[in-house]
Amino acid sequence: MRAGRPRVPDRRDRGRFQRRLLAWYRRHGRDLPWRNTRDPYSILVSEIMLQQTQVERVIPKYHEFLARYPTMEALARAPVKEVKRTWYPLGYNIRPVHLHGIARETVARYNGRLPDDLRALREFKGIGRYTAGALLSFAFRQDTPILDTNVRRVLGRVFLGPRRMKALRGQQALWELSAALVPKGKAYDFNQALMDFGATWCTPRNPRCSPCPMKGSCKSYPLTLPSPPNGGEDKGEGAR
Ligand code: ADE
Repeated sequence: MRAGRPRVPDRRDRGRFQRRLLAWYRRHGRDLPWRNTRDPYSILVSEIMLQQTQVERVIPKYHEFLARYPTMEALARAPVKEVKRTWYPLGYNIRPVHLHGIARETVARYNGRLPDDLRALREFKGIGRYTAGALLSFAFRQDTPILDTNVRRVLGRVFLGPRRMKALRGQQALWELSAALVPKGKAYDFNQALMDFGATWCTPRNPRCSPCPMKGSCKSYPLTLPSPPNGGEDKGEGAR
């Protein structure tokens, strides 16, 4: 094994993590509006909004945006200037431009239907590896992994521990870990659960370790966090 490279956990450990996380999600998962739709376009809108913005700020804008542009075609027809205005004040103004570009290209090349394969999705400006994984698992129910800041923290803590996390170079090993953990046919719930668990329990600074269902097998438990130099002010790393 290369230094810092996580071995994929064995079947029993994977199964235990999957079961515990899915049970946790049934009790503690958030009821978010983009989880009540199967429309790939609506899910695309939510995922682009969530790229840099906290869930609470995204929710009202998600509703407003979809009321104004209910379909890929409606968004493609709108002038980009107006789309940017509708997006305001979410910030990171390149995102509405990308979203608008995705809508135009989807209408032009794919008859208005978002493609359901990784290569085609990654060709769009504004869709990185994380967003492509989110779209494939959430909009198309494919067994595809995701890896964002929250997921990285959860998997790193549970399966690697602080020393091996520090020694990690790059993201590839964590992508492999995330892929190995996706339970067959359950990527949708599993990936949503990973995200919620990272955003609400396994948080950067005040994780809820004592009631945590993973603590018996977590490589970072008991967790000791370095005291923050700024007195604990959260800069939004766990924004989602
Ligand atoms: N952040 C990115 N995608 C998300 C989702 N589907 N639910 C909650 N937070 C997210």
